[in-house]
Amino acid sequence: MRVSVINISLIAAIVQAQQLFITTTGYTERPQCTQSPASPSYHFQPFSFTLNETVRYATSVPSPTSTQTYAPPYSEAVKRLSASPATTTWGSYLPGHTVINATDTNDPYGQAAWSSLWQNVKLDNYTTTGLYSTTVSPTPIPSSELVLPPRDYFGSTDCYSFPDDFIFGVAGSAAQVEGAVALEGRGPTILEKLAGLTQPKNYVTAENYFLYKQDIQRLASMGVKYYSFSIPWARILPFALPGTPVNQEGIKHYDDLINTVLDAGMQPIVTLLHFDSPWVFVSSDNATAKPDFGAKNGGYQNETFVDAFVNYAKIVLSHYADRVPVWVTFNEPWLYSFNFAGANNVVHAHAQVYHFYHDVLKATGKMGIKFNDNFGVPRDPKNSSDVHAARRFQEQYLGFYANPIFLGQQYPDSVLQTLPGAKPLSKEELRYIGNTSDFFGIDPYTTTVVSQPAEGIDECAANRTDPLWPICVVQETKNVYGWNIGYRSQSYTYMAPTYLREYLNYLWNTFRQPVLVGEFGFPVYAEAEKELSDQLFDTPRSIYYLSYMSEILKSIHEDGVHVMGALAWSWVDNWEFGDYNQQFGIQVLNHTTQQRFFKKSFFDLVDFVGARLSSS
Ligand SMILES: *[C@@H]1O[C@H](CO)[C@@H](O)[C@H](O)[C@H]1NC(C)=O
Ligand SMILES: *[C@@H]1O[C@H](CO)[C@@H](O)[C@H](O)[C@H]1NC(C)=O
Ligand SMILES: *[C@@H]1O[C@H](CO)[C@@H](O)[C@H](O)[C@H]1NC(C)=O
Ligand SMILES: *[C@@H]1O[C@H](CO)[C@@H](O)[C@H](O)[C@H]1NC(C)=O
Ligand SMILES: *[C@@H]1O[C@H](CO)[C@@H](O)[C@H](O)[C@H]1NC(C)=O
Ligand SMILES: *[C@@H]1O[C@H](CO)[C@@H](O)[C@H](O)[C@H]1NC(C)=O
Ligand SMILES: *[C@@H]1O[C@H](CO)[C@@H](O)[C@H](O)[C@H]1NC(C)=O
Ligand SMILES: *[C@@H]1O[C@H](CO)[C@@H](O)[C@H](O)[C@H]1NC(C)=O
Ligand SMILES: *[C@@H]1O[C@H](CO)[C@@H](O)[C@H](O)[C@H]1NC(C)=O
Repeated sequence: MRVSVINISLIAAIVQAQQLFITTTGYTERPQCTQSPASPSYHFQPFSFTLNETVRYATSVPSPTSTQTYAPPYSEAVKRLSASPATTTWGSYLPGHTVINATDTNDPYGQAAWSSLWQNVKLDNYTTTGLYSTTVSPTPIPSSELVLPPRDYFGSTDCYSFPDDFIFGVAGSAAQVEGAVALEGRGPTILEKLAGLTQPKNYVTAENYFLYKQDIQRLASMGVKYYSFSIPWARILPFALPGTPVNQEGIKHYDDLINTVLDAGMQPIVTLLHFDSPWVFVSSDNATAKPDFGAKNGGYQNETFVDAFVNYAKIVLSHYADRVPVWVTFNEPWLYSFNFAGANNVVHAHAQVYHFYHDVLKATGKMGIKFNDNFGVPRDPKNSSDVHAARRFQEQYLGFYANPIFLGQQYPDSVLQTLPGAKPLSKEELRYIGNTSDFFGIDPYTTTVVSQPAEGIDECAANRTDPLWPICVVQETKNVYGWNIGYRSQSYTYMAPTYLREYLNYLWNTFRQPVLVGEFGFPVYAEAEKELSDQLFDTPRSIYYLSYMSEILKSIHEDGVHVMGALAWSWVDNWEFGDYNQQFGIQVLNHTTQQRFFKKSFFDLVDFVGARLSSS
């Protein structure tokens, strides 16, 4: 494998440069210090209080001065679809409260059919109605909310600036913030099934579906330039499949959301599929079997998936590609498709959408795909067995998709030899799929220390009941000396900024497209148990963001890595697929009142970026 050879030498070359594994003694070097005398001169002087605070306010984004377009408007774009899609409206389904008593039982996509989609999901244990049922008008953010917090004592010492075209923003996804799951015509998704079978769940989340105007105002007032969100397929096409009607209310909603972002002086980044694939692709699954990320239940493996996704994507692009500069086809596809059929479908569907975007629409924005991989680093970079394991880890999580999409190269041998039903792509397929991503999206929250299993990789790969199958490497969070790789959060994230820089080096030099850090964030340990003022003073999250941003600057300026941007996850505490205690937000959410509160880390992050813009 050509790629594998590059990978080995790259990992080895980069990792050997690490301080961590160089055996040394003595103390950490101090920054440049003036010599302090061994015998200081102690003395008295008049005392006065001087440590008063200087009040500073967050700087909002400037009002837009021009609008750029990236594709033809809908009236023109729709002519490039094979058929003009029919539209309709369905209204709202309120489980446990009302049943829509529709009489149009002969219409396969009428009210009765739509209601029965929801009846099958059995959402009765969810709270699906919140405080709001219609779009809330925004109010200005009072300056009292925009006062910067006290600085942390220790901070970044770099002197670098962000390039002019660096994309700095915040991210969220529909299912995690929107609420309104069965309102305004949305159809059910597999997330209702994923989280629905065990306990009652607050599915209202942050009610962003109705509060988006206010949420955009808040972000703009903090100086955020890019707003990354996802559109739920099932809100555009509740019946999911080609030829089924488009939900007019959904189209209007995202149209207004995009315009609201632009009017606020920000730019939208849109993800087409962020875990919420329509229910219909798994509808024949055992209704009581618990679906899980990483198994067959993501629906991606369904034989109708590719055509259906491409049809959905074309409809969305024809409506919004004129105003959206950056598109992501799939978010973290591995979590839903670690079987051959699923990943193979993702690779084909992504390429078709990319070709439609650039070749048919002739759109000039950027379109890419975004992966969930944490960097797999060898336990000991001088141990070839560990390096082999790290190489395999990257191949399974990334190379599977990225070899064909970025390099036009075959699926990795380690994938073809492990997954049942795997078959290579033809030369013709590789030509069509190759070079179909304008950037490499990655969500590098943390780092994983990797080594070989005791039974060996080959034995594991051949044994589907091996608990490590199919990745077949040992994954740990301690380094070779037994220390944690970094400060631990509420969940799987450890603070490991220096590995981020190494990872960016690996990605840029292997896949050769600008890297977009599509998500990164840190759920402070036990934050949800603290009182509000203590939640807001989230120093560990500030250290996480500032150290990661510092390492991004170093990789740009010292390593020549093209990092296209970074999007903080998330702009508000949200629904982590059933869990509200893993708080990844840079705003606190009060679930009772739907109030949002800016955390210290949000100010620290926008201040860090603002101070390092080339133009300032
Ligand atoms: C404290 O406030 C006074 C009056 O506003 C100002 O002159 C002085 O510079 C401030 N000191 C510090 C350390 O900020
Ligand atoms: C549907 O019919 C039931 C029984 O006739 C009735 O109680 C309910 O109010 C009706 N719901 C709606 C939304 O009309
Ligand atoms: C749903 O709620 C009902 C009544 O509150 C309860 O009996 C049932 O066990 C719940 N189901 C699940 C899956 O949690
Ligand atoms: C695949 O998707 C179709 C809808 O396109 C659905 O009818 C079918 O049940 C799905 N297959 C499985 C195995 O879930
Ligand atoms: C459905 O899944 C449940 C839980 O995994 C299992 O106990 C049951 O046997 C399955 N039923 C069928 C028909 O496969
Ligand atoms: C490399 O690491 C493996 C365990 O991951 C160990 O069994 C082996 O002895 C190590 N090899 C060397 C040369 O240190
Ligand atoms: C990849 O695509 C871009 C844009 O379509 C083009 O400029 C570039 O030459 C292509 N690179 C390769 C290696 O085909
Ligand atoms: C496969 O893995 C299982 C679970 O670790 C183990 O019990 C079994 O012996 C292995 N089978 C073979 C053929 O190695
Ligand atoms: C949410 O706000 C209400 C009303 O101000 C307050 O009583 C409650 O304690 C808040 N909840 C949390 C978790 O802070």
